[in-house]
Amino acid sequence: MSTATALPIRNLLGYQEFSIGQFRFTRDEYFAHITHPKSTHFLPVDHFLRCILRDVAWGFFYGTLNFDQVVGTTQHYGTVDLFCGLKNEAHVAANRHYVERFDADDLHRVFSAVLEDWTNEGFDPFAAPSETGSAYGPKHGSNPTALSRQRVVARRMVGLPGDVGYRTDENGYPLNRHFIDVPVDQPEVHAELGFEGSVHAFNLYNYVARSDVTWNPSVVSQVKHSLYCLTTEEYVLPVNHGNDRVEWFVQVSDQIIWDIEDGKTGKPKARVTMKAGDVAAMPADIRHKGYSPKRSLLLVWENGDPTLPQRYSRGELKAHPVEI
Ligand code: PHB
Ligand code: FE
Repeated sequence: MSTATALPIRNLLGYQEFSIGQFRFTRDEYFAHITHPKSTHFLPVDHFLRCILRDVAWGFFYGTLNFDQVVGTTQHYGTVDLFCGLKNEAHVAANRHYVERFDADDLHRVFSAVLEDWTNEGFDPFAAPSETGSAYGPKHGSNPTALSRQRVVARRMVGLPGDVGYRTDENGYPLNRHFIDVPVDQPEVHAELGFEGSVHAFNLYNYVARSDVTWNPSVVSQVKHSLYCLTTEEYVLPVNHGNDRVEWFVQVSDQIIWDIEDGKTGKPKARVTMKAGDVAAMPADIRHKGYSPKRSLLLVWENGDPTLPQRYSRGELKAHPVEI
């Protein structure tokens, strides 16, 4: 009996086909195609890779990641839904929607394999458009370094002994070209006698301004369920994030425009322009997509309490954390 492994199916452009459940994924030079029993959908392949890399790197994140108005994933913490049309009122009304629930590890494995095969040399799905090569064309090379970045998660706080280290010129994180004016001095810490080991501070601007990726929050401090997620943003957040909890945004520098839609239907609700210093509470029942014309610094304050999605869906908590 032959022990040879079957070669993967590759199209004439050199790309492998993938499937999970009844979903099938194929790509050509410019587009990713998603086929399911009710329909087929396509989206620009660079955009698709940016979305599924976030699913992979963030372990499907909180709630829903809509890749566009049709396709996306919903986190059920252990399992995950892959859907087409489910969060789109018109698709649901026409019964064109399709959803399958997978073990999160299985979908993670398939998305990782798609990324590995479909990401060409030079394309970095986390980079700003002006800092990456092209995703297009027939298959050429690969970019494992860009795909293997782990999401930075400080256990307590960046810079503490044994925790996530600082970013420096020496370890490969120069200041981004948009932040060369950011002060890089360290704060002075004058602890009371006996508290020398209990007080810690670091220059957050100097840390975040050295991020080499966009739209990829790093957890810089963690106290129980309170997560400070800092990120640099430039161009467009690829996913339209459907929250399963409230998120607070603090615009630390520059400006981001947010399109807010109803989380279930996608109906437009608001356009919010956040300028440096602005604070917003994003409700638990919306989806949002951000646009940053110039690299900007954003603090996303997350509540990691695992009981929240159920408490919102049972109506125990209001979707809005403040009444104005
Ligand atoms: C969000 O969905 O709230 C989000 C995701 C990634 C970011 C910023 C915000 O970089
Ligand atoms: Fe969000």
